[in-house]
Amino acid sequence: PTFRIAAIPADGVGAEVVEATRTVLNEIARNAAEPFELSWEEFPWGSHYYEQHGRMMPEDGLDQLNGFDAIFFGAVGWPSVPDHVSLWGLRLAVCQGFDQWANIRPVRFLPGVRSPLRRADTADLDWVVIRENSEGEYAGLGGRNLGARGAGHEVAVQSALFTETGCERIIRFAFDMARERDHRKVTGVTKSNAQQYGMVLWDEVFQRVAADYPDVETELVLVDAMAARFVLHPESLSVVVASNLHADILSDLGSALVGSLGVAASANINVERRFPSMFEPVHGSAPDIAGQGIANPIGAFGSAALLLDHLGLPAAADSLRRAITAVTAAGVLTPDVGGQASTKEVTSALIEHL
Ligand code: NAI
Ligand code: MG
Repeated sequence: PTFRIAAIPADGVGAEVVEATRTVLNEIARNAAEPFELSWEEFPWGSHYYEQHGRMMPEDGLDQLNGFDAIFFGAVGWPSVPDHVSLWGLRLAVCQGFDQWANIRPVRFLPGVRSPLRRADTADLDWVVIRENSEGEYAGLGGRNLGARGAGHEVAVQSALFTETGCERIIRFAFDMARERDHRKVTGVTKSNAQQYGMVLWDEVFQRVAADYPDVETELVLVDAMAARFVLHPESLSVVVASNLHADILSDLGSALVGSLGVAASANINVERRFPSMFEPVHGSAPDIAGQGIANPIGAFGSAALLLDHLGLPAAADSLRRAITAVTAAGVLTPDVGGQASTKEVTSALIEHL
């Protein structure tokens, strides 16, 4: 079969890691036990496009992407464009436009990558953050008003939206995922003691859904305690499900604990498959190292493994995950994880292991 993939490298190191990922995925397609083909189309959208056209992508951008089997995204953000403009104009526009309501962010420890966790062995650690990706604190509701009292007295309101349907679908998604893991446990995260409407609704839905999964262990934890738990007792985690904002923060903490933002993978899934899903490393455009050829491509490669899962190619996904582990174990590492290898050297080493 042939799969059509839309590539959006966008800004900074996004372009570097997307190029590396295309090379790796094409190699996997060629050498798979049951070969498949990838047909790539690249979309030159992002902050440079904005400088020329006044928008991050064309008006019919979503129409152009619709119909692809998947989207592979680099990163957005460049000093010439305000961050909220670039994020809303491209990445969130695609996520929300295609109702990619489930964001999967594995916290996967890698041999050879030093974790700041103070423990001798991290090989037993493996959990996944499931992020609600369509509403919550990033619903874009609110406004700013200077009011009658003038300068220095501006008021801004930023509301969070929680719907019962939105909570239920992401929580069920988390429980279904827990059933496929060795440790069948779901931890729900909120701040329902302080935020008494949306987050209490979330907790109630969580408890109702949990009753349908008697074989899955459950707990509800407040987000501040959860941040501490990530550091102090990560072995107690398997599937962690949280709102858009909370899971965003917790998953960055997770990748820092693994050793670098550069190794964290993610998938934005339209579970109903009505629209294409989008796969991207968790990190941003890293302007501080962009153009130097030293961006860590491992986060993008891990995202490519999630893409292969989504295309129904689990054997290819596993071979990629094994190759990632082999490369880090062999010490072929970029500077962010303590090595001296370039993006290209990590990529070539990985292709050897394939
Ligand atoms: P960032 O993730 O770009 O960088 C944070 C730190 O991690 C930097 O020191 C960077 O060098 C390092 N880093 C990130 N990715 C790396 C990689 N692949 N290899 C090695 N080191 C890596 O976050 P920052 O600096 O807060 O934001 C920079 C820009 O990226 C901003 O415009 C921001 O809005 C945007 N951004 C975009 C995201 C996305 O497209 N999903 C996510 C986060 C930020
Ligand atoms: Mg983030």
